[in-house]
Amino acid sequence: MWGKLLLSCVLVCALPVAVVSSERDGEQATHQKITMGKSGPVCTKQGRKCVFNATCEDNRCRCPAGQRGQAEIECVNKREHLCYIAGDPHIRAFGKALATIALPCRFRATRFVTKNVASHSGHGTCSFEVYATNELLRGRYVVRSVHISVGISDPASMTHTAVEVYKTVEYNVNDTEIYNYQARTIHRDSIWGSSKDTLDGVTIVPSFDEVNNFATLDIPACGTRIKYRAFDRRRAKHQKQLPGLTIQAPQQATWYAGLGDYPFGACGVPSDPRSLYNDRAAQLNLTNDNTAVLYDILAEEPDQKDNRLAGKCSRSFNLFKSSTQQIDDINYCGFLLTDPRVGRCIEEEAARLPIDIFNACLAMRQNAGYGCFALRRAARICGPLEDWTGPASGDINCPRLLVSTTEPPAPESFVF
Ligand SMILES: *[C@@H]1O[C@H](CO)[C@@H](O)[C@H](O)[C@H]1NC(C)=O
Ligand SMILES: *[C@@H]1O[C@H](CO)[C@@H](O)[C@H](O)[C@H]1NC(C)=O
Ligand SMILES: *[C@@H]1O[C@H](CO)[C@@H](O)[C@H](O)[C@H]1NC(C)=O
Repeated sequence: MWGKLLLSCVLVCALPVAVVSSERDGEQATHQKITMGKSGPVCTKQGRKCVFNATCEDNRCRCPAGQRGQAEIECVNKREHLCYIAGDPHIRAFGKALATIALPCRFRATRFVTKNVASHSGHGTCSFEVYATNELLRGRYVVRSVHISVGISDPASMTHTAVEVYKTVEYNVNDTEIYNYQARTIHRDSIWGSSKDTLDGVTIVPSFDEVNNFATLDIPACGTRIKYRAFDRRRAKHQKQLPGLTIQAPQQATWYAGLGDYPFGACGVPSDPRSLYNDRAAQLNLTNDNTAVLYDILAEEPDQKDNRLAGKCSRSFNLFKSSTQQIDDINYCGFLLTDPRVGRCIEEEAARLPIDIFNACLAMRQNAGYGCFALRRAARICGPLEDWTGPASGDINCPRLLVSTTEPPAPESFVF
């Protein structure tokens, strides 16, 4: 079912405007578009704005009548389903459970199937798969890019048009601009945001919402809308417009067990309880909902394509896989990723990436010396923090054989 992906696209935020690339006859063209929309009224106590059509009451953004959602980022019709991964980023699942996704890796947000109301046979379906890639910023994570695949299938039709949308690895991005989206679709002449595309009779509308600063993918026949708003790097602390990814699925959407439900999709399914991630933590004997999400992403080993830190994520996946005490290891080392104060200290005071120190912690638990000196140094500098629940620097004995503090270079050639 998932093999037949007819369209896939990636939205990449380099910095808070709009760059669109397309390939025509093998030639690559870049289209830049800047959106600096003001969005709706300033509303919340943190000074956040609501989306344009929402209202502000008692410092809370409210969706228009007949709609529900998180009016700082997306409102949907009452019967539709919504999952969003926004801010630090916190995930609000389809079943409304909340957790924080604290690692700089690519993970699957969701995978579901909908009816295609435009199909000639009346039996057509649309399949969606959405990945998000996080990036570390001041001890917290934000969604940096989104990869969407859409497949249109119809048992009555043996033909299909192949469409692919993807990003190139490095863009030339102007780091001083906000809402600088880089999106690229490859399908004959189509350019993200410039035209509608039709796949087997299904109209696909990639566009930019210049009022609210979203890159949007709308597929009306499949009742689905996916939006992405970049992090505004000019305001590291106070984001006036909540950045993140939103996924609206229609009432008739189906999530297949073992494919699209939790943990195969971080968003879960609409019938999940609000305690989804807490229940998972209890089931696995993990300390909390955030470590449960971390555990499940490590166990899933999602493809890290287009992630700058792919090597570090793969290293985490490998160290996790080779552990004989995965639950204990995540309970012991997980805070290095999930605690924002510790993360910020590691990043700013110890000048290391939390994922490196997390990997060193996992390695230490397997008596491997990788990253040992960096871990000991981080423990010395950040250990005094109340939130530091890991080893004291004095208890970390780095193997004598390791005479230098340098780490093994290529993660691909990583061996114990
Ligand atoms: C606001 O709502 C109107 C009516 O539903 C709609 O046409 C318009 O596009 C919306 N504007 C924005 C910026 O979302
Ligand atoms: C980035 O964009 C800003 C605003 O458009 C412009 O003033 C600045 O010169 C640009 N910087 C670079 C390095 O292109
Ligand atoms: C869960 O953890 C507690 C305390 O660490 C331990 O006593 C208990 O045996 C564990 N349960 C399972 C099922 O592993």
